[in-house]
Amino acid sequence: MIECENRKRPMNVVEKAELLRLMGHPTRLAIIQRLARGPRCVTDIQELLDVPQANVSQHLMTLRGLRIVDFHEDGKLRCYYIARPKLGELVLQFLGGDYEVASKSKDEVRRAVKRQAQDACCRPSTSKGRTRRDQTVAQALAAGNDLAAHWERVYQTKGDSEVSWHQEVPQVSLELIRKLARPGRTVVDIGGGSSVLAGRLLALGFEHVSVLDISPSALERAKARLGQAAQRIHWIAADLLTVGNLGRFDIWHDRAVFHFLTNPRDRKKYVRLAERSISAGGHLVVGTFALDGPAKCSGLVVERYDAAKLAAEFAPRFTVTKSVSETHTTPWGSEQRFIYAVLRRD
Ligand SMILES: C[S@@+](CC[C@H](N)C(=O)[O-])C[C@H]1O[C@@H](n2cnc3c(N)ncnc32)[C@H](O)[C@@H]1O
Repeated sequence: MIECENRKRPMNVVEKAELLRLMGHPTRLAIIQRLARGPRCVTDIQELLDVPQANVSQHLMTLRGLRIVDFHEDGKLRCYYIARPKLGELVLQFLGGDYEVASKSKDEVRRAVKRQAQDACCRPSTSKGRTRRDQTVAQALAAGNDLAAHWERVYQTKGDSEVSWHQEVPQVSLELIRKLARPGRTVVDIGGGSSVLAGRLLALGFEHVSVLDISPSALERAKARLGQAAQRIHWIAADLLTVGNLGRFDIWHDRAVFHFLTNPRDRKKYVRLAERSISAGGHLVVGTFALDGPAKCSGLVVERYDAAKLAAEFAPRFTVTKSVSETHTTPWGSEQRFIYAVLRRD
């Protein structure tokens, strides 16, 4: 009889069937097989299985829900191991695998992951694309900008459907901007990434649209999507925390960027830049994770807000005129609560 590990009672037949159903997926079985040989970080699992990271993360979440795997966090890395060795062993025996299975302590996991990372860094790169990618990320690292390297890596390794923030239609942003400004006005999308917003604004007749992002690869993707029309947009590859002057705008839009600023000094820099860049009577539209939204985005810790907290950050030169709540559905179907605030530059 298969017993529930860490539980006093055996599983009933419905639970067993559910367990088999959830495990009965090629990627999940492959993950169990891989982890049975030793702990691995998500990125390693993704590379070994050649499956997009979002998919791997989803499968790992399912396996963790079943308590078959668990993870330890090492800095920004999430390293998984088999948490139910008995069950894992039975599954692998059932599959005909001949593996040693063990539960690992955090230190053992850390040491094993380090060893494997060292091995991996000595392996020659086989793909031309990857070499190029490593070079541009390395350039950002060499310039001392870990943040730029992080975002470059994200946009070079993940497609739109693999990032949680992707929207087919940025409905709330478009509605807010349309109510605030006529097409003759100037708009900047701060941290616009590869968003479709700028293209949508062009289609609505806005003629003075700028997009700023720290990741050149993100902007390249947005340009490629727009084709010829991309030439009508002003693209700025820059870190908003060091950019200096941007010019003047009637509308400043930011979805899911301000919330990454967890350091009050960085938030002050951001607010000062917004104060300098938004014309008197102009507006700032900022969308962040709400107080009941996720604590992290893209593996980075975020600051969560409600309208009052945003008002306090931007006072005294901005006044909140409106706020809107939104539940964003990620490309893989989970929900994230956002708050948008519209602030007038007084
Ligand atoms: C979660 S994504 C949101 C992208 C886009 N606003 C959207 O809604 O689809 C955050 C974006 O902010 C950009 N970003 C993060 N920190 C930045 C910084 N300091 N300066 C400029 N862009 C930054 C990232 O490259 C990324 O494109």
